[in-house]
Amino acid sequence: MASGSVVSVSDRPRAAHGSRSEVARVLPTWTYRSAELAEIEYECLIRPSWQFVCHVNQLKKIGDFATLDLKRESVIVVRSKDGNLNAFLNVCRHRAARLLEGDGNCGRRITCPYHGWSYDLTGNLVGRPSEKTFEGGKSALGLKKLELEVLLGLVFVRIVPGGPSLREMWADYLPMLEPYRLEEMEPLDAPWIESWECNWKVAVDNNLENYHIPVGHPGLQRLLDTDMVGFINRHGIAGSTSTLRARPSPKWSERLYQKLAPTILPELPAEIRDTWQLFTMPPNIGLDVMPDSMDVFQILPLGAERCEMRYPIFVRPNEPREVRLQRYLATRIMRSTTLEDRSLCESIQRGIGSHDYEFGPLSSLEHCIHDFHERVRTGCPVAALPTAPAAGTMREINHRLRQQA
Ligand code: FES
Ligand SMILES: [Fe+2]
Repeated sequence: MASGSVVSVSDRPRAAHGSRSEVARVLPTWTYRSAELAEIEYECLIRPSWQFVCHVNQLKKIGDFATLDLKRESVIVVRSKDGNLNAFLNVCRHRAARLLEGDGNCGRRITCPYHGWSYDLTGNLVGRPSEKTFEGGKSALGLKKLELEVLLGLVFVRIVPGGPSLREMWADYLPMLEPYRLEEMEPLDAPWIESWECNWKVAVDNNLENYHIPVGHPGLQRLLDTDMVGFINRHGIAGSTSTLRARPSPKWSERLYQKLAPTILPELPAEIRDTWQLFTMPPNIGLDVMPDSMDVFQILPLGAERCEMRYPIFVRPNEPREVRLQRYLATRIMRSTTLEDRSLCESIQRGIGSHDYEFGPLSSLEHCIHDFHERVRTGCPVAALPTAPAAGTMREINHRLRQQA
């Protein structure tokens, strides 16, 4: 369990269950059905936050690159000649073509597929066909550079600069995570990418509480003894620790996992061989750390009532057969948990659409949702209004409220 400045639910002043003040702190349901707000949330919450791109081990050689498609924008991370990683907006300075897709190696230059402008790996424009036909030089036409940070081998970028570093945000939790040796990991496969029929905040809310596990995830409940309250730090990074149950599960795959986990991976400290750490970093990133693997759960808004899940899994390379078997079992369990979450989140979205519906009170076990909703209101103060503003006015109202804040 985390310590230091990590805040547990019992440390936080909190209204009694179901009181008027607690209900009022939950976002109103219109905020889960508004395309206009989803655009504002992308600008005010996603762009200024750390977004996961890839593992550093995917970018070992000069010219190795990875992209992240955030729908409105795309970003590139590339390894340059000096060995550094650089991050740029993935858009050509000429006429906006997307420069790179997916991941791979681009050689010593990033060359636009439209008219052939080319950039070096630090983003400078270094060549363009028919150079003499342009007025002005190339020096001001480099790619837009972005903030980049690598934490425990995970590469993140931030489009709007400013705010705390990842190392600062995760400082409370690093001692818990370091024994898992995440830096050594590599992608298991291409990431799962799927679209869920729910507002992105439904999926984030769901990731932020364990209250639903006993009923919503029977397999996880049979396998793990989960800390239902969890913890959260001042940056809103929430998490919980789960340990394998001693009582054998009636299901063979879970029972086999319980049997294998304590003895496999002897190089890991004994206390983490049967411990899963599940985190959520606002606004939209989940991080699940298990002894045999780690996954990132990135939730991207796709309009009002749809979002994209990007779900890459990482593992240590060259592990023996028993570890691969254990991992297979863990990913199988996580996959069915994700399918259950998808079905629950999509059902919530349908329920939110009921006429005049407003959310009921939250349990104190759902305290991290309050913290997230406060962060949404801080970034997008228009989300605090009890009813949706008239169509077309939301951006201006939000701008005015931000200036008043
Ligand atoms: S859009 Fe890239 S070279 Fe023209
Ligand atoms: Fe869940």
